[in-house]
Amino acid sequence: MRSFSPTTFTATVSSRAPGKIILSGEQFVVLGAPAVAMAVDLYSTIDVMPSQSGRIEVTADIPLHLVGDAAKRSSVTKNQELLEPLRLAVSATLDHLASKERSMHVDANCEIPIGAGLGSSASTAVATISAVAKSRETLLDRREIFKLAFIPENYLHGHPSGVDQATCTYGGIIQFRKPSKIKAINVKRPPMILVCDSGVHRSTKALVGSVVKRSRKQTDRFRTHLEEITTLSNGVVKALRDEDDNELGSLMNRNHELLRQIGVSTPRLDRLVAKARKAGALGAKLTGAGGGGCIIALCADKKIQSNIARELRREGGTIYDVSLDKRGVL
Ligand code: MEV
Repeated sequence: MRSFSPTTFTATVSSRAPGKIILSGEQFVVLGAPAVAMAVDLYSTIDVMPSQSGRIEVTADIPLHLVGDAAKRSSVTKNQELLEPLRLAVSATLDHLASKERSMHVDANCEIPIGAGLGSSASTAVATISAVAKSRETLLDRREIFKLAFIPENYLHGHPSGVDQATCTYGGIIQFRKPSKIKAINVKRPPMILVCDSGVHRSTKALVGSVVKRSRKQTDRFRTHLEEITTLSNGVVKALRDEDDNELGSLMNRNHELLRQIGVSTPRLDRLVAKARKAGALGAKLTGAGGGGCIIALCADKKIQSNIARELRREGGTIYDVSLDKRGVL
């Protein structure tokens, strides 16, 4: 933690944090296996302004890319629920800084779709923590931001591993293992990844809960899965460093198969993954908790990438054009 020279909080201060995709190990990371994740250039930006209200006010502009009228209506009523984690992030940061002055207005602007597995909640949480600290003339170090983000993330997701907020905080590509082992993976050439949103959005908490429950009933099966995912995530790190896209693609395919076996894929995700491979992807898998959300496809070049995008759009998918974010929260 680093304090600036004290001044009165009179102007707007801002922070932004990237979204994320998971290249390997989601779900299994909650059970202790390593995951590999990459920060992507979809951002949430948090502005913190002085307020005379004497309390913490939070407003947000978050894209709710949900399908159908019913979903749109429920998304509006759920908005208060979406703001609560941000309120928790603000008050955890003020407690951490022992700040008695709690009057402020926090405005979140998030271009990451919610419930899509792209880290919208982690990104808004870490950007909020950073911006609130700046408003109190303090720069938190990344480890402090990572730790504080567990408060809003636990509220929203139950018992998250921490991989999402680690990626949004540090940026780049990381290998993550619970509770807080974060290793930066430096690559000369980031993988060319296409993200496709199935349009079906879901709750990470419910999906993680169902996998944890299943793992308690099927201990032998999950022990074998965890061993395989550990080897697989280490293989992903090696393939990234060696720029071996064929190997990376086949590890992604195998990872999708394991996620399918533990019940977090859906027929729609399987169809999108199959389409992406048929259109030339070197590998494709769901990314995030599953049950809906996004798939990622590894592309050898721009031409193949646009072929895959065209095919996935035909299936009703929404394409996000993303690349690596190297900087994390700023
Ligand atoms: C969600 O992006 C990743 C999960 O593994 C949950 C977690 O690690 O907390 C599904």
